[in-house]
Amino acid sequence: MWRPPERIKWKPQPGDWPSKEAADGSRLFSPVSLGSVVLEQRTWIPAMVPWRATGDGFVTPQVLDWYGRFARGRPGAIVVEATGIREIPSGPLLRIGDDRFIDGLQRLVETVRRESDGHTRLFIQLIDFLSIRRRPDPERFLREFLEITDVHRDTLSAADWDEELIRDHLVSMEDADLDDVLDERELESLRMGYRERVTDTHLPQVAELPKVLPDLFASAAVRAKTAGFDGVELHYAHAYTMSSMLSRLNTRDDGYGGTLENRLRLPLEVFGAVREAVGDDYTVGCRYLADDIIDGGNTVEDAARIGFAFADAGMNFLSLSRGGRFEDAQQPSVGAAAYPYTGPSGYECMPQYFSDEQGPFGRNFEPAARIRRYIRSAGHDTPVVVTGGVHGFQQAERILSEDNGDIVGFARQALADPDWFLKVRLGRGDENIVCEYTNYCEALDQKHVPVTCKLWDRVNMDEDGILKTPDGKRRLTAAVWEPDLDIDEALSE
Ligand SMILES: Cc1cc2nc3c(=O)[nH]c(=O)nc-3n(C[C@H](O)[C@H](O)[C@H](O)COP(=O)(O)O)c2cc1C
Ligand code: SF4
Repeated sequence: MWRPPERIKWKPQPGDWPSKEAADGSRLFSPVSLGSVVLEQRTWIPAMVPWRATGDGFVTPQVLDWYGRFARGRPGAIVVEATGIREIPSGPLLRIGDDRFIDGLQRLVETVRRESDGHTRLFIQLIDFLSIRRRPDPERFLREFLEITDVHRDTLSAADWDEELIRDHLVSMEDADLDDVLDERELESLRMGYRERVTDTHLPQVAELPKVLPDLFASAAVRAKTAGFDGVELHYAHAYTMSSMLSRLNTRDDGYGGTLENRLRLPLEVFGAVREAVGDDYTVGCRYLADDIIDGGNTVEDAARIGFAFADAGMNFLSLSRGGRFEDAQQPSVGAAAYPYTGPSGYECMPQYFSDEQGPFGRNFEPAARIRRYIRSAGHDTPVVVTGGVHGFQQAERILSEDNGDIVGFARQALADPDWFLKVRLGRGDENIVCEYTNYCEALDQKHVPVTCKLWDRVNMDEDGILKTPDGKRRLTAAVWEPDLDIDEALSE
């Protein structure tokens, strides 16, 4: 993963923990409404893919274990991982593209209700993504995958060569010399692996995105509602279809690219279809980027206008992330796929402890505050979720008291200690296991293997009934925190 060249090593700074009385009186632990849903507190676990579904996208006992463990900490809301809305295989990523997935998702909802004792609201993130292939073996690419065209023949002055001779010649060339023969997309397919873009409108499946996505998202949202989720989060962030439609890099000329108005068209049509399908009283929001962090991509100013358009259309919440794009991803090794969190934009999405002067904590606070101010000044009070390096109570409380956001997201901190919320509310914040922002978890995500935290995945391995990775080396969820008190009684005192 790319890291800022300054390589300044930062340590988490959780600060002082509040007494139970101070926590009771805080904004963080005060309720907030998202459309028709009320969160008991302004804490939020954003989507995190844990790679625990079956190979064809069904809920497993490991999925239930993962979300049930988060629910025991009773955060205000949990957002279930990016869940695929199409009927396409996507490895152990949850899917919701057909009614056959509803039963498992219903069990997931029941698990979170039970484990949180009804205190945590549950949303699910709905995602669409375009096709991406692994980086090929160069010789195989040149012999089998590359389509030989007249441009190649002209460049090589090989008008009368047969195709096999051209391929032999390309294979014999130095990698750097191929720059003169292959075009930009062919070179990308060779060196990074083939990747579709929303601008590839010569491909029928890309041209038809505006035709098919509203229904696909709407059907998925109806299934989420049927399964019992409190609402849905449309995934309009990072490297995926909808974020790419929103980006300034979207130059489609079919009315869905170019100007901001055109780039907003499909995201708003998708939202409109979802809203119509689930009704006005169902909570629907989205996650999108406060900044693309790539050359030529959206800036905070664009994101403010986008936020206004979403609020104006009637979204019930806006969750802000940043970066996480393919455009600046590092070259994967042969046989691996590009991962959109390996370049500078990926760093901004999940900043780790080797950082620059600004440090890894709260890089999205100021952009979020600007976007929120813009939306407020236009007369909308849509709640804004702010995430990024939050691990301390005062840090979270400041986001709210300084009007930078309305809800605070804790992703890696909740992974490091799912009981953070409960411990802080009980005045026992000093028992928290604080995230060190090593990104060990994120490296597991990159390999598409079960995500765990290095602070607990080898602790109490003999505990009865715990689920482990197939090799038996890591436990899959944090050990249970058993305070010597009755939690409900203590909270009501
Ligand atoms: C293992 C892992 C998986 C993630 N999966 C998703 C995802 O499915 N959807 C999403 O919007 N963000 C995803 N993220 C990004 C987080 O939601 C969050 O924005 C990011 O980690 C920064 O917040 P933090 O500093 O509190 O961890 C993931 C992060 C991690 C560490
Ligand atoms: S592995 Fe644990 S400590 Fe390291 S970044 Fe992930 S959650 Fe934090």
